[in-house]
Amino acid sequence: MGDQLIIPGFTDLHLHAPQYAYRGTGMDLELLDWLNTHTFPEEAKFRDLAYAGPAYRQFVAALQGSFTTRAAIFATAHTEATLLLMDLLEESGLITRVGRVSMDRDCPEHLREPGPEAAEQWLASARFAHTKPILTPRFVPSCSDALLQGLGELAARRGLPVQSHLSENQKEIAVVQERFPEASCYAQVYDRFGLLDTDCIMAHCVHSREAELALLKERGVFIAHSPESNSNLASGVAPVRRFLEQGLRVGLASDVAGGSSLNLFRAMAHAERLQEYNCANAIVRLGGRYAPPEHVTVFRGTTDDNLRRSIDFARRPPEGLHADDIERALQSGNR
Ligand code: GUN
Ligand code: FE
Repeated sequence: MGDQLIIPGFTDLHLHAPQYAYRGTGMDLELLDWLNTHTFPEEAKFRDLAYAGPAYRQFVAALQGSFTTRAAIFATAHTEATLLLMDLLEESGLITRVGRVSMDRDCPEHLREPGPEAAEQWLASARFAHTKPILTPRFVPSCSDALLQGLGELAARRGLPVQSHLSENQKEIAVVQERFPEASCYAQVYDRFGLLDTDCIMAHCVHSREAELALLKERGVFIAHSPESNSNLASGVAPVRRFLEQGLRVGLASDVAGGSSLNLFRAMAHAERLQEYNCANAIVRLGGRYAPPEHVTVFRGTTDDNLRRSIDFARRPPEGLHADDIERALQSGNR
């Protein structure tokens, strides 16, 4: 054995290619203000291929130089720029799913879906060996009922996978609740339009409650966990342990630009630190004294099993406290 390590390539389950250029910017804002102030103006620039070309070239070179070999990627609302990104990714040898982002409300004019045929037109040209399309409604607040309906039907007709965002931020959830007061949870809105029926990745699920998690499990949805983004945008701490205990499918994701790095080793470290911080916080709120583990090993792998072990490790209850008390405090702290 030499001093070199052979590891499998990682899968980044959720990231935004056009946001690479400004990763780590505007982290004083929460999600909705951050989208309006930084994300939408930057993504609008991708209508111009002279801007999109160099930006996507830099992104693809950086992804190629990272530990990631497979990824599920958001592009922008622009068909030509999305096809350019897919071309570059195909040349790179990486294996990816790429989504042209669909949105038609509460966003700038240049990011708006031109018509119901736009997604089909993109699909007709998106023919690559290793770079496959994935339908990508941005999130419920950016999509009309008609758009969600059309994408659900398209997914069913063509057997296409879907990716979007779910229960990331409290204000986002309030917007969805106000628009769909009869929905039992946020995920049920996607579900009523058939968007959870094919292979589906939902990013974040920071504030998902029991009914939502049960629905995600029933539909076999993958949760993309992006701990750095969740702390940068002050979204909260996702209940990863509950995801795993309930048998949900979870993977790590950088969520660039909410996350500042493509390095999934960092995502592992962030996942562990955030769970440990949350646990320590709950113990202190209960009047206990938190004793940090003596050895925190960062490299535990990306599998469910390794993540579960690292979270259990960070949650050993101290003297005088029961694990159930901590669990309750964790759940109430996230509300
Ligand atoms: N929700 C809707 N759009 C976005 C985005 O671009 N980034 C993050 N983190 N959440 C979103
Ligand atoms: Fe995202």
